[in-house]
Amino acid sequence: MITVSLTHFLLLCLVVVAAAAASNNITTDQQALLALKDHIIYDPTNLLAHNWTSNTSVCTWIGITCDVNSHRVAALDISQFNLQGTIPPQLGNLSSLTTLNLSHNKLSGNVPSSIYTMHTLKFLDFTDNQLSGSVSSFVFNMSSIVEIRLTNNRFSGELPKNICNYLPHLKALFLDKNMFHSKIPSALSKCKQLQQLNLQFNNLSGAIPKEIGNLTMLKGISLLCNKLHGEIPHEIANLRNLEALVLGMNNLVGVLPAPIFNMSTLKVLILMDNSLSGSLPSRIDLSLPTVEFLELAHNRFSGTIPSSITNASKLTVLALGENTFSGFIPNTIGNLRSLLRLSLANNYLKSSTSKLSFLSSLANCKKLRFLNLGGNPLDGILPSSIGRTVV
Ligand SMILES: *[C@@H]1O[C@H](CO)[C@@H](O)[C@H](O)[C@H]1NC(C)=O
Ligand SMILES: *[C@@H]1O[C@H](CO)[C@@H](O)[C@H](O)[C@H]1NC(C)=O
Ligand SMILES: *[C@@H]1O[C@H](CO)[C@@H](O)[C@H](O)[C@H]1NC(C)=O
Ligand SMILES: *[C@@H]1O[C@H](CO)[C@@H](O)[C@H](O)[C@H]1NC(C)=O
Ligand SMILES: *[C@@H]1O[C@H](CO)[C@@H](O)[C@H](O)[C@H]1NC(C)=O
Ligand SMILES: *[C@@H]1O[C@H](CO)[C@@H](O)[C@H](O)[C@H]1NC(C)=O
Ligand SMILES: *[C@@H]1O[C@H](CO)[C@@H](O)[C@H](O)[C@H]1NC(C)=O
Ligand SMILES: *[C@@H]1O[C@H](CO)[C@@H](O)[C@H](O)[C@H]1NC(C)=O
Ligand SMILES: *[C@@H]1O[C@H](CO)[C@@H](O)[C@H](O)[C@H]1NC(C)=O
Ligand SMILES: *[C@@H]1O[C@H](CO)[C@@H](O)[C@H](O)[C@H]1NC(C)=O
Repeated sequence: MITVSLTHFLLLCLVVVAAAAASNNITTDQQALLALKDHIIYDPTNLLAHNWTSNTSVCTWIGITCDVNSHRVAALDISQFNLQGTIPPQLGNLSSLTTLNLSHNKLSGNVPSSIYTMHTLKFLDFTDNQLSGSVSSFVFNMSSIVEIRLTNNRFSGELPKNICNYLPHLKALFLDKNMFHSKIPSALSKCKQLQQLNLQFNNLSGAIPKEIGNLTMLKGISLLCNKLHGEIPHEIANLRNLEALVLGMNNLVGVLPAPIFNMSTLKVLILMDNSLSGSLPSRIDLSLPTVEFLELAHNRFSGTIPSSITNASKLTVLALGENTFSGFIPNTIGNLRSLLRLSLANNYLKSSTSKLSFLSSLANCKKLRFLNLGGNPLDGILPSSIGRTVV
């Protein structure tokens, strides 16, 4: 009895497997790609027209890589072909695809929802196209996806509130240079593996959600040039792997959470063009040993420039202009040997000596290419060591 039912069971399994195999094979892949070819209205090099022909195997087509074992299409990379056209829903039938790279073309129209549920996809790159429409109603259900790049398109509408519900492996999310307008969804914190978050150059508003501090794998955050309000959440200091924090060109207010200066991995801190206030911590050298890029211009920072900043030996850019810093420019500023750009313009900074000795020290900064000290009450005599080289 047991043997019979087991046989029945095995038969049933075979039927199910056969049915599944029949519904998705290389023929399905070919149909999906021919549907894409049909939707291309301009192909300046005629690559697809001449190469994607049904009398040759899909696996020999330009831009296609097949998996040697399954003999299914594993990668579609037709980036930089200058193609015009739209993306057909059939593309979602490429059910073994791991890489979809359509970047640097002129594709337009909406992205069909079938794309956002491709379970085998690891890399999705639509960078530099003219794709449009809202994605707010789509379920991003891509259980294998590692990178999503929608940079520089015309996507609009709100960011899906539940965007991270079904993206357990997502490491990089690039939605920059679009026209998204909404708050930054706090549910982003469900993308626990996220390392790169780039939402710059959109129309995002509201406050930066404090839940961002839960994304402990994050290495880079850029929210540059949006309409974000409120204070920088101090939870950001929980991000122990953070290398770049780019929040410039928003409407952020308040003082910098002091622990930000204690982040031992931070290399880039860009906060210019906000309304941030408060002073720099006095032991900034202990705090910022790794920082290369400190861009705080055009805010309301005040207080003195701590002389300890001249111990931040990796600094290449120090931009503190257009604030209300006061006191003396440190005479040891020339210790910053890696400096390429120094701007202290439009503050209330003075020299501690009438000979502007901080300027003599700057002569040690052999790599310095840009220096702006204008708009400060700096009366004195230019030291001869520097007068001829720096204007
Ligand atoms: C793919 O599946 C269809 C049925 O859905 C079948 O007719 C066709 O022969 C299969 N093609 C290959 C190459 O196995
Ligand atoms: C394949 O078909 C195209 C027309 O679709 C034809 O120009 C080409 O010569 C054919 N190639 C082969 C190898 O049969
Ligand atoms: C299509 O392009 C690939 C890669 O360049 C080439 O190997 C293949 O022979 C081409 N096929 C046809 C039919 O031109
Ligand atoms: C897509 O192709 C471009 C080159 O055309 C490349 O720079 C980019 O890294 C590729 N994207 C992915 C996710 O591999
Ligand atoms: C391919 O996708 C389309 C639209 O998403 C669907 O209607 C069609 O049944 C699929 N075809 C195959 C062969 O799976
Ligand atoms: C996500 O995809 C899985 C696998 O196809 C499916 O079972 C599940 O229902 C989907 N979830 C949603 C919310 O669409
Ligand atoms: C940005 O959002 C504001 C409302 O918050 C709206 O008035 C404006 O048109 C939007 N700009 C773009 C480019 O979408
Ligand atoms: C995420 O962050 C919030 C606020 O910082 C916190 O209350 C919550 O417990 C965190 N959730 C998880 C799942 O870690
Ligand atoms: C920074 O870290 C040092 C030692 O690691 C600690 O003494 C100091 O209180 C911290 N400062 C802030 C603002 O967290
Ligand atoms: C720079 O660091 C050294 C130790 O590394 C310390 O003795 C010195 O006081 C620091 N300089 C300033 C200006 O804080």
